[in-house]
Amino acid sequence: DAKPDVTWLGTPISELGRMPDCGQQLPRLKNVSGQHTVLIRTDLLQNGKVPVPYPAKFTDTWDDVHVKMPWSGMNLFPVINEVMVLEPDAAEHLFGSLLPDMVQLALRASELCTKPIPLLKGGMNHSITMSQEQVASLLANAFFCSFPRRNSRKTEYLNYPDINFFRLFEGASPKKIEKLKTLMCYFKSVTEQRPTGLVTFTRKSLDRPPNWKSSQSQLTKLHITCEGTIEDDGYGMLQVDFANQFVGGGVIGSGLVQEEIRFLINPELIVSRLFTEALGHKECLIITGTQQYSSYTGYAQSYKWGGSHQDSTPRDGWQRKCTEIVAIDALQFRSFLEQFHPARINRELNKAYCGFARPGERSQNLSAVATGNWGCGVFGGDTRLKALLQMLAAAEAGRDVAYFTFGDSQLMTDVHNMHAFLTARNISVGEVYDLLGQYYSSVCKSCLSRRPDVSLYSFIYQQVSSSLAPDASDSGAARQH
Ligand code: AR6
Repeated sequence: DAKPDVTWLGTPISELGRMPDCGQQLPRLKNVSGQHTVLIRTDLLQNGKVPVPYPAKFTDTWDDVHVKMPWSGMNLFPVINEVMVLEPDAAEHLFGSLLPDMVQLALRASELCTKPIPLLKGGMNHSITMSQEQVASLLANAFFCSFPRRNSRKTEYLNYPDINFFRLFEGASPKKIEKLKTLMCYFKSVTEQRPTGLVTFTRKSLDRPPNWKSSQSQLTKLHITCEGTIEDDGYGMLQVDFANQFVGGGVIGSGLVQEEIRFLINPELIVSRLFTEALGHKECLIITGTQQYSSYTGYAQSYKWGGSHQDSTPRDGWQRKCTEIVAIDALQFRSFLEQFHPARINRELNKAYCGFARPGERSQNLSAVATGNWGCGVFGGDTRLKALLQMLAAAEAGRDVAYFTFGDSQLMTDVHNMHAFLTARNISVGEVYDLLGQYYSSVCKSCLSRRPDVSLYSFIYQQVSSSLAPDASDSGAARQH
């Protein structure tokens, strides 16, 4: 049994060997090829002195038995199909000047962004205005992935978009490379010349949705074209971002369609991901003042960075570019019929109206809405329905519409004809809304196949024509074919 005053047993600790006393004197430190690689000048090694690197100049080695260094002249990765991403000059510029400048920009954030940035949480009506330079500094931090608690979705930021760029660096898909080129063009611009303007981010919630059924509003003007894009030809208008509820969607991941492209060419939009909680059904985010830094060609898989872009958009009295973008997220449909359900129609109308309406402003002071096939690409919506819904929402908000069909000339003709038909007959928003309800109950509800056998537009033509005709006898659902 242990005695209380015994505190150690066995060999006395003083008899155990300790370095350096027990050791032999070390042989002179030297580099032995194949055995010992020493990275410093052994001849200058001295107690208390900082070791001197050896050799004096960087020896560039790029093989499978040495660590590949970021600053190697051979660092041309990622290499896709033997096509080099960075020319040697570009690599030198990247490591010698652009990245160091971005580090400085990121480090200046605590001097630049001195006021706490509020989170724009669900249900809030709140605006944040900051300088383009503050945005740039925040985005440099996002590039270096330094925002805390944002690298896992399972944390307090569960309901926010990703902000740190790490997903942009994983994998070597050509899409990611083109995204990086586009973003580096932005960082090059803002590090070479300090931007001077401001940007405003406004989260807006619709408190009182319109009573669609009783609306007497008449349709507003429509310009529809199969050429051009929202960003190029809708300058000065309220430009629709076909958004995800997490604004920016897959911009720092793998997405590369309308929203992601817009966020890449106008990267200041990306900072909205830092503070904008997922959008609710009756909410939108309005971003005023972002600048376009890059041009592009192609779309989705064929997207290519198209070089730097000089944005000549004038600035407003708050030094913001006169570029107003509204992020509204459509519903994603898995079945075609689903979108004609009155609850879905209401949701989409209210969402668009939230984005378009500016209570307190007079209609004549509002720019047109520049839009297109909102919700009809990745999200699988029907273009003809969505065009009509957006026309209703714009009419209710008192704004004209510029609609870009993105190459679809049949759609251009069909939507134009429908708009002309409705306006010629002074059909109000409420009446069109009612027709949508009739279409659902008399065509979609009973439909057994995947698609209705009467199209929405033929239904509207037949219903309106028969009800306006003096001898209208058949008021039921007209069938075509
Ligand atoms: N100008 C006009 N129309 C365009 C343009 C443009 N610049 N780009 C595309 N279109 P999509 P969605 C047309 O699929 O269905 C993103 O990941 C083109 O006809 O981007 O609402 C978001 O983050 C295209 O097919 O919008 C969401 O997660 C159509 O607009 C999701 O996609 C729809 O573009 C939203 O998907």
